[in-house]
Amino acid sequence: MNNNLPVIFCAIDKPDLIAAKTLCAEISDVGLGIKLGMEFFNALGPQGVLEIHKEFPNTPIFIDLKYHDIPNTVASAVRSITSEFTPAFLNVHAAGGLDMMKAAKAECPQETKLLAVTILTSLDEQAIDNIGYKENLNERVVQMAKLAQNAGLDGVVCSSHEIESIRKECGDDFILMVPGIRPAGSDINDQKRTMVPKEAIDKGATHLVIGRPITQSNNPKQTAEEILKSLN
Ligand code: C5P
Repeated sequence: MNNNLPVIFCAIDKPDLIAAKTLCAEISDVGLGIKLGMEFFNALGPQGVLEIHKEFPNTPIFIDLKYHDIPNTVASAVRSITSEFTPAFLNVHAAGGLDMMKAAKAECPQETKLLAVTILTSLDEQAIDNIGYKENLNERVVQMAKLAQNAGLDGVVCSSHEIESIRKECGDDFILMVPGIRPAGSDINDQKRTMVPKEAIDKGATHLVIGRPITQSNNPKQTAEEILKSLN
């Protein structure tokens, strides 16, 4: 599937605008997209997001705020965040349910792809069991992906370990945005269900989210380039 958006989105998990801009300049230079999540947003707010958009108007931005609330509240959040510019991607939690996802989609601009987060890549089978989810993790993720598709969403955020099962159930046009990606030999940090970039793409991921392996590297631009090269 080719939607002309960057294959890799770099998680700019920085609470500081200058540091975030420096990083965005390096990674957008080599063709990566920008992912702005909670860490950035809670420190710098919608104004910070707009600053990044204004400085990098041609770089697609993924707003990773994982909305999860009642339908009316989520719809209103989607309306607000898309009122001043059009992100390439935006996401909600699939666990918010069918009506919440439909309400979010109804407020989403046509050009913004809306994704549903399934089960966080920082959770493993044991952690899922502790929460009280009793079924097999893979089955639960596939069920959430099907629900998101029924709600009219464009794809899901999932771990690399569920790519093949979701692809089989949801078809070729469904976007699979995959975090928990680690180049060979790098620290997995707090992630649990990880994979190297090329393997995730070969299995059917459409996009990868990569943060710390790039952002904590001594040379983020070079690391980003090396990861891109490793995909060929
Ligand atoms: O540094 P690292 O590559 O682990 O960053 C992963 C990024 O992807 C973080 O910003 C995290 O919030 C986000 N993410 C994730 N798992 C999900 C959804 C988003 O790790 N299921």
